[in-house]
Amino acid sequence: MAARRLLVDIHTHVYLPRYAAFLRSRNSVPRIFTRTNDAGESEERLLILDNEPSVGRPVGAQYWDREEKLKFMDKHGIDVSVVSSANPWLDFLPASTAHKLAGELNEDLEAYCATSPSLQGDSLKRLYGFGLLPLVPEVTVQSLLDTVQQISGLPHLKGIIMGTRGAGQGLDDDALEPVWEAIAQAGLVVFLHPHYGVDGKAWGEKENGHVLPLALGFPFETTIATTRLILSGVFDRHPTLRLLLAHSGGALPQLSSRLASCIDHDPVVASRLQHDARYYLGKLYFDAVAYGSEELGFVSDVIGRADAFAARAASAGASRAVGEKCRLGSAKMLFGTDHPFFPPLSATEKWKSVVENLEAIDGVEGWTDVEKNGVRGGNALKLFGLA
Ligand code: URA
Ligand code: ZN
Repeated sequence: MAARRLLVDIHTHVYLPRYAAFLRSRNSVPRIFTRTNDAGESEERLLILDNEPSVGRPVGAQYWDREEKLKFMDKHGIDVSVVSSANPWLDFLPASTAHKLAGELNEDLEAYCATSPSLQGDSLKRLYGFGLLPLVPEVTVQSLLDTVQQISGLPHLKGIIMGTRGAGQGLDDDALEPVWEAIAQAGLVVFLHPHYGVDGKAWGEKENGHVLPLALGFPFETTIATTRLILSGVFDRHPTLRLLLAHSGGALPQLSSRLASCIDHDPVVASRLQHDARYYLGKLYFDAVAYGSEELGFVSDVIGRADAFAARAASAGASRAVGEKCRLGSAKMLFGTDHPFFPPLSATEKWKSVVENLEAIDGVEGWTDVEKNGVRGGNALKLFGLA
């Protein structure tokens, strides 16, 4: 068992058939609609982002058909996937609808995973999942706690995918305290994923397709939400909480020393946290969906130095050797694909978005084979209790 070398994809999405049917029934965003394309064929399109070009994006069986997910995994050598519902989850629904649909979709995802094939010669299934909470305005804390309990009782669901809005006031909302407590206690991993980006006015007037909101807006949204969580003291109050950040944490690794300095110089927050801001990056997990070796290496260095910024260590001036930082940091990073988003624009054997992320892991200077194998799969098996 210990020598297993599996490729595990922890950032891979689905619109479960029940959710896709729901999107088809809607007339406003988010929705799936049918149009006739230039070739005169009927095709479905997906519209989920506000201000997205009205043609939306192509959508098809790869979003809801489990066989397509398994075929994609086989094509790219992915042994196990930890699947999550894609954005915008239940964010746009009234609380009672969101509660009911969350319960149904969690059961659906459990069945999707539980009835998936087993890995050859292994007791593992090929599919595990992240459940959903009805995180919408006016939801009751009890509804959230009930759903955390439901998810923790579903054996193939190992965590919860979450957007950044919480119950309307963001994730640093005091009302969510009991929810963090329950999630930490249940040992579920929170996968924090963007949807809204940042103010669209920042993108100007030029037509740039989806590039600016996806490349910059998404990661900045994650950066802001995570920073607000750190500032709120959630990681001091719930030190066992495990939070996995989409897209390698966005800009947070690059900005973490600036964040620490701004905190130190601000009388409102200077004494609020138990540790230097950089310490909290070591409490987090980061997907390896960054598409470049240098970025992955950089993120692992930043995470790996985090414990030098624990309150005790800082006063002792602790620092880490380079190799040690890489080892500690890479152990918190996990391969992902973002499938079925970013499909190739023309027919290719393998998806460029996947190959690039695998090559990025392969090429990190300073990661040994042990570290690379950890990022490819070993770290995920550990994080999700599958090892
Ligand atoms: N676009 C999305 O809307 N979601 C993703 O996860 C990736 C791309
Ligand atoms: Zn994603």
